[in-house]
Amino acid sequence: MSSNTTGRILLERVHELLGDELAEADRVFQKELQASHRYVNDVLGHVSRMQGKRLRPMLVFLAGKAVGETTEVHHVLAAVVEMIHTATLVHDDVLDEADTRRHVATVNGRWNVETSVLFGDYLFTHAFHLAATLETTDACRLIGRATNVVCEGEMAQVHERGNLELDEAGYLAIIEGKTAELCAVSCHLGARYAGADEETVAALDRYGRNLGIAFQIADDVLDVTGTENQVGKTLGRDFLEQKMTLPAIRLLETADDATRREALTLLAEPTPEGWPRMHELLEASDAIDFATTRAREYATAARAALVDLPDSPARRLLDDVVDFAAVRSY
Ligand code: IPE
Ligand code: IPE
Ligand code: MG
Ligand code: MG
Repeated sequence: MSSNTTGRILLERVHELLGDELAEADRVFQKELQASHRYVNDVLGHVSRMQGKRLRPMLVFLAGKAVGETTEVHHVLAAVVEMIHTATLVHDDVLDEADTRRHVATVNGRWNVETSVLFGDYLFTHAFHLAATLETTDACRLIGRATNVVCEGEMAQVHERGNLELDEAGYLAIIEGKTAELCAVSCHLGARYAGADEETVAALDRYGRNLGIAFQIADDVLDVTGTENQVGKTLGRDFLEQKMTLPAIRLLETADDATRREALTLLAEPTPEGWPRMHELLEASDAIDFATTRAREYATAARAALVDLPDSPARRLLDDVVDFAAVRSY
């Protein structure tokens, strides 16, 4: 079975277990974001037309169910983390000059950069407005801290753009911030608000962090190996934006002198015409295998964080989600 089919079957199983709860989180998401201005609702309607995988809401619910019971607080938390995630995507598509996201035009592609900047802000502010409706300030503080780290990660990435000497440790620091932190806090909150003790909350946090790292490495592999049809978003941007991701870092580290020189020349002034050759060099090296192996290692670390949890359908799905995160085709 292709990883695409297995992935879709897995997500369907998660939807089956969570069915009503994911739908309720969607309602909370939509209700919070309804505006009085028609233009804002038009943009919201466009962004909501195609749903993403809703990985972070799933993590909130699965982490909660793996340790106890979920309540309506989880619906709010799930909506909040999806709002933060969507905000980062709307802004990220400006940074990457991407024109397709979730199989439809990006906000910057359909409207313009001003609309993306402001709509991204609108999503961020609503996320905190919504989180502040919860009885305690814990969630607001934890989501605030995680979002700070995500923003720092994105800033670090912009700062490192074009640094062809970025190594694996530098790359990991960036993706831990921009991607893994939100996955970690989603699991952390799901578990905390289901009444888990500190040790269990920390284990779920660790699960989410490692899963998030695996997920982003897989995303960076997909940027090279995926097809836009299947993934539903603009690909090949990492090269054009001079973002040094794990496959490119590995290629430069292991290539013979001639190949390394050629790759460095392509990376120094990346053009759409240079991409097919860079793609060839990556495919001919062990860079993709290496990155996939790393993703699997983080997936293993994520699974290891679950060892002390009792068996349950949610726990088993957390196990399976890890495999999907590390090796996926969309
Ligand atoms: C895309 O996230 C950005 C990354 C962190 C790689 P997703 O792949 O979770 O995006 P959607 O929500 O499913 O569209
Ligand atoms: C993830 O990085 C972006 C965020 C965490 C905001 P990418 O730039 O690789 O994400 P995609 O590929 O555009 O979804
Ligand atoms: Mg991007
Ligand atoms: Mg990407």
